[in-house]
Amino acid sequence: MNLTLHVWRQPDAGSPGKFVTYQATDVDAHMSFLEMLDVVNEGLVARGEDPIAFDHDCREGICGTCGVVINGRPHGGQPRTTTCQLHMRKFHDGDSIVIEPWRASAFPVVKDLIVDRTAFDRIIGRGGFITAPTGGAEDAKRTPTWRSTRPPASGAARAWRRARTRRRRSSPPPRSGTWASCRRDSPSGGPGSST
Ligand code: FES
Repeated sequence: MNLTLHVWRQPDAGSPGKFVTYQATDVDAHMSFLEMLDVVNEGLVARGEDPIAFDHDCREGICGTCGVVINGRPHGGQPRTTTCQLHMRKFHDGDSIVIEPWRASAFPVVKDLIVDRTAFDRIIGRGGFITAPTGGAEDAKRTPTWRSTRPPASGAARAWRRARTRRRRSSPPPRSGTWASCRRDSPSGGPGSST
């Protein structure tokens, strides 16, 4: 698909910024949004231009570093989806996309789409937290295993596991020296015997 990008470009915190228009051509629907920006940047570098600066780290939807605003919505507006997990199949051929940094006076722009998160880091450093029920942090690329897909144990399965645990606790571990006594009892003295 071919897209028109309107990207906020700002060389540094003290300079004025502006939207610059780029054409993104032959964008694969399976690319993530950041991969699409990577391709655009490769074209800019090949032409000797300054690549678009944007933040990212894990690219797996875990760290939350990739916080750009897309068409006026943080991360593009798809629920529970970070920018690095937003895929180009959510867009259509011929779309115009506006990409800008998160704008807040506490987070001044460092360059292009990158903002200074020091204010947020200070809150974290003081032990700040919120109490939103977000669930456990899962690896976004995790392959399901039998443990994660296993249904809850039935009553019979629980009873069987309890009995197994009781059996294990009631049977003492093998005593040390068992192998030595086997060797003594063997007519030839057992393996390793000198006789
Ligand atoms: S780069 Fe880590 S969540 Fe997007």
